[in-house]
Amino acid sequence: MTAPSMDALRKAAETIRAGGLVAMPTETVYGLAADATNDKAVARIFDAKGRPALNPLIVHVADAAMAQRFVEWPALAATLSQRFWPGPLTLVLNRRSDGAISLLASAGLDTLGVRAPRHDIAQALIQEVDRPLAAPSANRSGAVSPTTAEHVRTSLGDRVDMVLDGGPCPVGVESTILRIDGDSVFLLRPGGVSRNDLKAFLGAPVPDAAPAARPQSPGMLKSHYAPRTPLRLNAETQRRGEAFLGFGDLAGAGPYALNLSVSGDLTEAAANLFRHLHALDEMAAIQGISAIAVAPVPMEGLGEAINDRLRRAAAPREQE
Ligand code: TXA
Ligand code: MG
Repeated sequence: MTAPSMDALRKAAETIRAGGLVAMPTETVYGLAADATNDKAVARIFDAKGRPALNPLIVHVADAAMAQRFVEWPALAATLSQRFWPGPLTLVLNRRSDGAISLLASAGLDTLGVRAPRHDIAQALIQEVDRPLAAPSANRSGAVSPTTAEHVRTSLGDRVDMVLDGGPCPVGVESTILRIDGDSVFLLRPGGVSRNDLKAFLGAPVPDAAPAARPQSPGMLKSHYAPRTPLRLNAETQRRGEAFLGFGDLAGAGPYALNLSVSGDLTEAAANLFRHLHALDEMAAIQGISAIAVAPVPMEGLGEAINDRLRRAAAPREQE
């Protein structure tokens, strides 16, 4: 694994303490991190991404003990965090009125999304800064999420003060987001922990949150995670002039074809999803390709998160 030096880590921590922005690798995607207790630093995140200020950020903590300083902590939060933290699961909980998190981080809502990332570098950075880190995915708002340091540099350039390079992100899709309300739990976004794993652990299915319960945020809008090139979903074949994103046996017949997983493994497909979309989008721009055709991906396990991102990437842009 690529690993930044201790010096780089210390410099990153200083940058954040001084109100700067650092892109950090997490197990899901790269995050654009700032001190979540510093209003100005949090405002810089929105500015760097071109993100609407009504879209709340996830606050990254080292562990459950740190989370409890900022949000109320019902039994269900304790149970879920014991099983899935550190890892790709975000819990949306009621904010504590005495918590130190910037109101802007949660876009003025009474709730706050918290997550303890599993990635060594993200963990080391949180511990070195010794503060909670607000971090959305480190891309311009609406664009494909970054799973390499190179993606971050291409998307944000000098809008970010420093990039910690940890190599490719192992999970590759963003965290699963759950709203916990007393002893009820609802799915706000499918992600790195599958609905099935949650169901197996909780002993009951996890329903989708009612549309009215969702903030009107770009991550939840129809068009998001979008490459510049239009996508054609559920494609069985690669047509002339198209690039192809394959899965399993459906590999495409022409040039400019990549495969999410030749063996049809959904974990591998998730890890490759954004990297392949970035690469095909680049090729399309250079080669004058009109569309990226995407093979069908089954809905089980991580397939739900993959299909969610593909649907948003393919949706008409005027939604954005
Ligand atoms: O894996 C991830 O979650 C990555 C890494 C960096 O941790 N982060 C990420 O952040 O995907 P972002 O900002 O790209 O997506 C966060 C989503 C947004 O759609 C936002 O609306 C939702 O989380 N969210 C954050 N706080 C919320 C809240 N209080 N209530 C409902 N949704 C919330
Ligand atoms: Mg994002």
